[in-house]
Amino acid sequence: EAPLRVALAGCGVVGGGLLNRLLPDKRYEVVGVLVRNPAKKRDVAAPADLFTNDVEALLAKKPDLLLEAMSEGEAGHALIRRALEAGCDVVSANKQAVARDPAGLQALAAANGCRVAWSASVGGGAPMIETLRAARAAGPVAGFEAVLNGTVNFMLQRLGEGAAFADALSDARVAGFAEEDPSSDLEGHDAAAKVKLLSFEAFGRAPADLPRDELSAETPLGDRPVRQIGACHDRGGRLEASVRLDGDLKDALFQSLNGERNALKVYGQDGRVWTCKGRGAGRWATTESVLADVADVVRARRAAAELV
Ligand code: NDP
Ligand code: HSE
Repeated sequence: EAPLRVALAGCGVVGGGLLNRLLPDKRYEVVGVLVRNPAKKRDVAAPADLFTNDVEALLAKKPDLLLEAMSEGEAGHALIRRALEAGCDVVSANKQAVARDPAGLQALAAANGCRVAWSASVGGGAPMIETLRAARAAGPVAGFEAVLNGTVNFMLQRLGEGAAFADALSDARVAGFAEEDPSSDLEGHDAAAKVKLLSFEAFGRAPADLPRDELSAETPLGDRPVRQIGACHDRGGRLEASVRLDGDLKDALFQSLNGERNALKVYGQDGRVWTCKGRGAGRWATTESVLADVADVVRARRAAAELV
């Protein structure tokens, strides 16, 4: 069987992890790697001629599968659309790209006979989208609450232990948890995009309004643990959503959540509850999550090919 032709977009924390895993694997042929600066020194040993900053050149390689792990939402969204229009399967880790229009991306994939998946974009290595799908399959969902940002959770723990704000942020960046522009983490935009994607799974739509609390060096933090909680509840057909810094935690799942860990609690309308917890950020947790989507996509490709 010929190897799957894979194009990669982004070669930072996540894309670099993926390239490390794909290059020695004979099941895949990496046909190109899209980056902003092809000359940048990277922490992966890859042939220099794989790297390009030319989208057209990447798509001209006719990949079967695009793995999208770029740090820019708009560029990621445009590239995913281009790939799907060309009939290429897509797996993305980029929540700012896919949260723009998840229904539109799924429809575009279906119209072009291909697949799109973005499990790693919410919860990193924690199977949050899968947990919400399981809850949704069991019956109508009343709402969910979650810790969705590894950087903020890691920093809140460090700040609670007495670390300086700048040190806590710097450690989160060095560990590979923070976004390229960490204001996305600190101002709750990252968690808000994840709330939208989980709402899409739970309710088939995203909330219109999503107020956010911001974490800064001036944020007053008391003696009790504080966590950033992203939530969305169905209030009689109206979606009420927010990203809040909560210093009055009632739930042991969130109270005990340390480091870059994320956790999710889903409430069914019938009173049932689903939870999941895992590493929400970081190279290897996220790489494994993207590769889990790749395995699903490849299986679906093969099943579709058998039917032709
Ligand atoms: P990095 O900042 O480490 O890497 C971003 C990569 O995207 C770089 O290689 C950069 O190129 C490339 N890039 C950005 N904009 C463009 C563009 N317009 N055209 C071509 N290439 C571009 O980010 P991460 O690897 O940490 O994250 C990647 C994505 O995955 C983000 O969307 C993030 O939200 C998501 N994610 C990250 C997780 C993590 O723990 N880090 C976990 C889950 C999801 P260049 O190298 O040349 O600058
Ligand atoms: N910056 C994000 C976080 C990466 O800290 O959670 C994972 O989506």
